[in-house]
Amino acid sequence: MPSMQAMQQYVLPNALSFAEVDGVVIAQINTEQAQAEISLQGGQVLSWIPKGAEPVIWMSEEAQPTVGKAMRGGVPVCWPWFGPHERKADFPAHGFARVADWACKGSQLLDDGSVSLLLELVCDGGSKWWPYATLLQVEFRIGTKLEINLSSRNLSDRAFVISEALHTYFQISDIEQVSVSGLEGVSYHDKVTEAEVQTHAGEIRFASETDRVYVNSPATCVIHDPGLKRKIVIEKSGSDSTVVWNPWFTKAERMGDLGAEGWRKMLCVESANAFDNVVTVQPQQSHSLSVVYSLL
Ligand code: BG6
Repeated sequence: MPSMQAMQQYVLPNALSFAEVDGVVIAQINTEQAQAEISLQGGQVLSWIPKGAEPVIWMSEEAQPTVGKAMRGGVPVCWPWFGPHERKADFPAHGFARVADWACKGSQLLDDGSVSLLLELVCDGGSKWWPYATLLQVEFRIGTKLEINLSSRNLSDRAFVISEALHTYFQISDIEQVSVSGLEGVSYHDKVTEAEVQTHAGEIRFASETDRVYVNSPATCVIHDPGLKRKIVIEKSGSDSTVVWNPWFTKAERMGDLGAEGWRKMLCVESANAFDNVVTVQPQQSHSLSVVYSLL
């Protein structure tokens, strides 16, 4: 864990401070535009609340900062693989970045009133999980919009292949009332039924456990939420897959960490590169995945 003293240089008076909670350092942003919390463990956004709005990011009521464990909710960073490891069943699901200690490398109050925060994770190439020297950076810009840019720079002399996701849990009024547009006619792998690749015509609506990886889906998605009288707009670049996930009560019961009825109030629309869209990064080259979240 970085020392609180080391974090002092990144404090922005009246905009950004740091707190230590149960051994985890959390950046706290509070401006005229928004409140947000970002954990340096995992580089995980824990909350983002534009001023005057309901929280946009969902976090389980049962989640507590815990060393070595991603919190259920927020925006976990899945990297360098999405889901289970392709060959190694004992490697951590969704990679190791979501529980690693990230270092703070910069903070700034920008002219438009938003705050930027830069975190970094250096992989030295000596890990059994990831034998490639890599510089992973995540830059957040927190204001009336939330921007996240995840960049992977290959510092080794061999190409590597990654899959990845910004595994965002959005807060919604009721899973049975919302819909998602932007994925009409796009092929998806269904992780619940394991059926052949399929498509659907209209917006997505939810009536049971849903766990789909839409491939070749770089377009903007929108969550329509009449209950909260808002739309959440998910714009992205460098992301060709979109994962749509809600565990429903069936899987939520097995998971046990979503809180009472938590499954009803959350929907993951993850900007990813997975399945057909894994990314090869050549030596000394970088790949970036970016999202911009906003409300309408
Ligand atoms: C989603 C996957 O991205 O993450 C689901 O598609 C998975 O299959 C979910 O259950 C949560 O994963 P975890 O490892 O955080 O429990």
